[in-house]
Amino acid sequence: MSRKATPPRASLADRIRAWRNRMIADPAFRRRARNWPVLRQITNRRANELFALTAGFVNSQVLLACVELDLFTALDGEPKDTAALARHMRLTGDAADRLLRAAEGIGLVTHTNDGRWTLDDHGAVLAHDAGISAMIRHHAAVYRDLADPVALLRDPPAETETSRFWSYVGGTVGAEDGAAYSELMRVSQTMVIQEVLDAYPMDKHGRLLDIGGGSGAFVTAAGERWPDLTLSLFDLPAVAETARQRLADSAIADRLTIHGGSFFDDPLPRDADCYALIRVLYDHDDPAALRILSAIHQAMDPGDTLIIGEPMAGDTPGARQVAAYFTLYLLAMRSGRCRAPDDIFALLRAAGFRHMRQHATRMPVVAGLVSARK
Ligand SMILES: C[S@@+](CC[C@H](N)C(=O)[O-])C[C@H]1O[C@@H](n2cnc3c(N)ncnc32)[C@H](O)[C@@H]1O
Repeated sequence: MSRKATPPRASLADRIRAWRNRMIADPAFRRRARNWPVLRQITNRRANELFALTAGFVNSQVLLACVELDLFTALDGEPKDTAALARHMRLTGDAADRLLRAAEGIGLVTHTNDGRWTLDDHGAVLAHDAGISAMIRHHAAVYRDLADPVALLRDPPAETETSRFWSYVGGTVGAEDGAAYSELMRVSQTMVIQEVLDAYPMDKHGRLLDIGGGSGAFVTAAGERWPDLTLSLFDLPAVAETARQRLADSAIADRLTIHGGSFFDDPLPRDADCYALIRVLYDHDDPAALRILSAIHQAMDPGDTLIIGEPMAGDTPGARQVAAYFTLYLLAMRSGRCRAPDDIFALLRAAGFRHMRQHATRMPVVAGLVSARK
């Protein structure tokens, strides 16, 4: 006689969640809730959030149009009327008016008292942050890969526009490809660098090696903050050459050594006491990530430290958004995982590391940080 398997008993939290979902799904409950001021506030907030989710693509396209048409720079410092902005953006008055109203709706621009247009909070940031604008432009290609998300999930192609852009995903990086993605990384790295260096002061270290260091923005910033720190950068030969040319006359040039090579095939330099992986590990699936960490572990001496700074999944609102974004972005890129600190700890442990720690960053939407010692 076959026995029926008994389903596992739901926890109290799961039963409360199920009851809550039944209530929220009931239109009559939502109608009644709107009659009570506190519940009305909550229902309205939730409705607004759901609308923003549903309209996400339209909002991104408004943002892209504003960046492409140079709207934020045009408004930086001086309000302008619709006709002047239409001329600047080379749009008809009606088209400019539509774009400005849409941009107003999502907090990019607003009106002055005399009826002209000026920057709202998000627009004011965008007018001065080349990194976010570069990412918004780059999204045009990523969103083409994501245009049919079900097809991408069910049957992802071997190659996408995003994987071609990050040419190291396919294994070969020529000088031009390396320069293209290194430039995007360089301009988008400022906030990541600040988060990492604020959360992990390097005054206790003598030599920093930045692995996958790209164009050298991280070693430059660390070297400027700690003038006694000796610096090295390791990246693929074509990228290392670009960094060498960029930094040849920089203020840190006499303290910096640049190594070209692959962390999959070549031994890593061994002369650092702090090793950094900034926005590198999440590019790689678990087996490749483990190979990178094992190679670093092998290069390190006992007591040396590895820091890993990159967008990480977690429980804060910023980290949850990061996880949603990078989970799909990395699927489009055909490589990598957005990991929580615990996932990274598991990989570090498997590579032989001990003494692992999470360091709080002030803006988890920009980067999380963990460290480990050999
Ligand atoms: C997403 S970028 C991050 C660059 C920089 N750390 C930053 O945060 O801007 C990843 C970096 O890893 C480098 N990289 C990829 N595969 C590599 C390999 N096999 N060996 C060494 N570096 C590699 C890339 O060239 C690139 O500079």
